[in-house]
Amino acid sequence: MAYYCNEPSRTFREYMLIPNLTARDCIAENVELRTPVVRFRKGEASSLNLNIPLSSAVMQSVSNDRLAIALARSGGISFIYQSQPIEEQAEMVRRVKKHKAGFVVSDSNLTPKHTLADVLALKEKTGHSSIAITADGSPSGRLLGIVTSRDYRPSRTPVDAKVEEFMTPFSQMVCGGETTTLEEANDLLWGHKLNCLPIVDEAQRLLYLVFRKDYDAHKDNPQELVDAKKRLVVGAGINTRDYRERVPALVEAGVDMLCVDSSDGFTEWQGDTIRFVKEEYGDSVKVGGGNVVDREGFLFLAESGADFVKIGIGGGSICITSEEKGIGRGQATAVIEVDRARDEYYDKMGVYIPLCSDGGLVYDYHIALALAMGADFVMMGRYFARFDESPSQRLKLGSSYVKEYWGEGSNRARNWQRYDLGGKGGVLPFEEGVDAYVPYAGGLAENVRTTLSKIKAVMCNCGARSLQEYHGKARLTLVSELSFREAGAHDVILRGGENT
Ligand code: IMP
Repeated sequence: MAYYCNEPSRTFREYMLIPNLTARDCIAENVELRTPVVRFRKGEASSLNLNIPLSSAVMQSVSNDRLAIALARSGGISFIYQSQPIEEQAEMVRRVKKHKAGFVVSDSNLTPKHTLADVLALKEKTGHSSIAITADGSPSGRLLGIVTSRDYRPSRTPVDAKVEEFMTPFSQMVCGGETTTLEEANDLLWGHKLNCLPIVDEAQRLLYLVFRKDYDAHKDNPQELVDAKKRLVVGAGINTRDYRERVPALVEAGVDMLCVDSSDGFTEWQGDTIRFVKEEYGDSVKVGGGNVVDREGFLFLAESGADFVKIGIGGGSICITSEEKGIGRGQATAVIEVDRARDEYYDKMGVYIPLCSDGGLVYDYHIALALAMGADFVMMGRYFARFDESPSQRLKLGSSYVKEYWGEGSNRARNWQRYDLGGKGGVLPFEEGVDAYVPYAGGLAENVRTTLSKIKAVMCNCGARSLQEYHGKARLTLVSELSFREAGAHDVILRGGENT
């Protein structure tokens, strides 16, 4: 006879937190959000921590090098997507590790043979008006010139005019060199009244651009997550197929942490993958496993050597796994059960394994709930896809802006390795994710700041100054449908004219 779980599977929307006594010094500025990400023994400390409990999903439409840089600068970590060729993924990792604050890799590049029409199209796509002109049109090609909106008049310059006819050529440009510091770059920007300063190497190859508008933003960021050499921290996804080749390439590129990206982590393939990393690299390379939704799955990954365990099947905003296969579990129930198993494991084995709650976080307070239920950090896709820094296109839909967001199990991503069920592989037999839009929300740093201020406020209500204290103190209650309705504005007419 089949086994039946007696409890229904619950989502975050079904829970609320009950306040505890808040001490006078329990105020937002005293709340510490630092959190462990890799396993450690009782009495010791985790060798890798995040400054804020947020990570971005292993997805094409979420975690590229640009978003990874922005998130590490805010104190969290991105896991660069693995549904791309090994060398391209390693290159993204390299770009994050090489990132110098204020120095950005140019994302708008053309060749001298392109036309004004190409310039206008690129500007529309990226929203950036400074375009580097390189010999091969790549971000690291030989720099031949630059085009900004001062170089052409859309009403006068013919759209088929070649870039070489109106660009500012290299001979007339002011550039910085490999050893230029941010301070010096800033002096050049102001001294020459420039908006953008290209940085080139000895062979005139483009390395970075420094923008005047970025200077203040990059001066000082106390939460920034850096390694011992002051380089930004970055993670990367791996799969259970090509790990023998992918892991060495990522390690060589300087990755700080790996995570097996799989919709179902309770498999022998995943066990083999984690063991491979541990046998090859010992403790010097950290690898998380997932996803699981119950005690058995957690114990399997813990015993396989996972440095952290990721929880979540079926709850992702773009996920149709439960609809297609009837597999999954309400995210709250999954986190609660795995947290219990983790605590028992800690008591028995003296080893603490951090937990990551992945997917299904709709409101900021859901993050606070996941953390209260025992997660050490969360992973989000939809949340980060909305920002300027995510890799997808920003489009106008009706009167508002949206960004594209598609699941790794959609035909668009074709990430069959994530849904691997053995056999020959190479194709997704059916889709487990959708191709969608999310409302555009602006820059990452500002949004993350707002989210964190809400999490800190919740923690203060619960009388907790650290996540560890919060785990021990939080009190949760189930909500009825009616009390849930009262959670929002109700029985009033909003000033916008809408009835609630
Ligand atoms: P979100 O934050 O609710 O958008 O969920 C993101 C999470 O959904 C990811 O971290 C993955 O665990 C999961 N995911 C990504 N792509 C797919 C898919 O195509 N189908 C099902 N789950 C997905």
